[in-house]
Amino acid sequence: MLKGKRIVIGITGGIAAYKIAFLIRILKSKGAEVKCILTPASSDFITPLTVSTLSQNPAYINFWNKENGAWTNHVELGAWGDLMLIAPLTANTLAKIANGFCDNLLTATYLSAKCPVMVAPAMDLDMYDHFTTHENLKAIEKHGIKVIPAEDGFLASGLIGKGRMAEPETIAEEIERFFVNELSMKGQRVLITAGPTYEAIDPVRFIGNHSSGKMGFALAENCLERGAEVVLITGPTQCELNHQNLTRIDIRTAEEMLAAAQKHFPDCSGGIFAAAVSDYRPKEIADQKIKKSDDEMHIEMVKNPDVLQTIGKTKADHQWLVGFALETNDAIKHGAGKLKKKNLDLIVINTLEDEGAGFGHDTNKITLLDFNNKTTKFELSSKKVVANNILDYLLTLKK
Ligand code: CTP
Repeated sequence: MLKGKRIVIGITGGIAAYKIAFLIRILKSKGAEVKCILTPASSDFITPLTVSTLSQNPAYINFWNKENGAWTNHVELGAWGDLMLIAPLTANTLAKIANGFCDNLLTATYLSAKCPVMVAPAMDLDMYDHFTTHENLKAIEKHGIKVIPAEDGFLASGLIGKGRMAEPETIAEEIERFFVNELSMKGQRVLITAGPTYEAIDPVRFIGNHSSGKMGFALAENCLERGAEVVLITGPTQCELNHQNLTRIDIRTAEEMLAAAQKHFPDCSGGIFAAAVSDYRPKEIADQKIKKSDDEMHIEMVKNPDVLQTIGKTKADHQWLVGFALETNDAIKHGAGKLKKKNLDLIVINTLEDEGAGFGHDTNKITLLDFNNKTTKFELSSKKVVANNILDYLLTLKK
């Protein structure tokens, strides 16, 4: 899968550095060529000899070779790689690359690298949670760097929490996915809706739903990884995503979502509508907080616009549309009806009958139904994998 791919691994000084030995092994066994750059601090955690033996290349540490005085050309190293991975990425090196410091061979190579860059942070939980770390991670994501998030678990400090470097197998999977997906959507501009809508009742209350936005954000991330530009229209959510090719539009109501979609869809190649839009909204929004008085209270509701159906009516021949259907019964039948009614190419059907599917979970279980009436079922998977499956399917559908 990685045959002939050239990967530069930058190793910084954290205890997780020892795991890079396993990562090099995995990447080499899949056919990749690997060159490693170590910061001076990292050789306290993994020896240059281990790294050079496993990678079958010299371990690069200094700007010049102390034996023969020869200069190590960091520009050449950066140009050699099809991908640069910095793992583990310490808080210190993160702060340097977020701000353009280049006081060692690794950071200088990073600054001169032309290839895509991924990082796998590793640090103690309080450092990982520090606002400067958050800001620095956001900054490098905006520079187009893919962050493989740290995982929860046992930390070298003895504490338990988020900060462990992603496992070598996970990093290898991300690298493989990167090479498979790379540029498969280059030149496309994709509109994605995500999250819930909030329909105000009065200044402090609203009607909403349990949508977390995770599915829409996973789809946006996957499209960005494939080289697409993304316009992400999202309701209130905790999800975050930063990328130079991302335009994020935050909305609250269905009407605001529709206005944003109508504005942007004409310039897009297609759209994926993953938002859980409130079908109704209160007819009147009270100016002041409604006081409790009677034992019963009634709110009169009016129908919201169907964002997807409205956009479906305007879909041009060169554009494609993907919708979602969340069902509790007769899922395929209802999904087929929505596919037709909303003029879709593909509908992603999930049912709350399946455990681990739907709102709030990190996983989803889907069935895809396309405009040829073909159904394909998928196993319960993480929303990241589900997003990948949907886009893989969509791209073959369009060919
Ligand atoms: N959708 C939308 N605007 C709405 C309602 C739904 O854009 N007002 C989109 C959703 O984002 C999803 C698809 O339409 O892609 C189907 O949504 P769903 O809630 O499953 O179905 P509805 O059409 O609302 O029908 P019902 O609630 O009766 O099942």
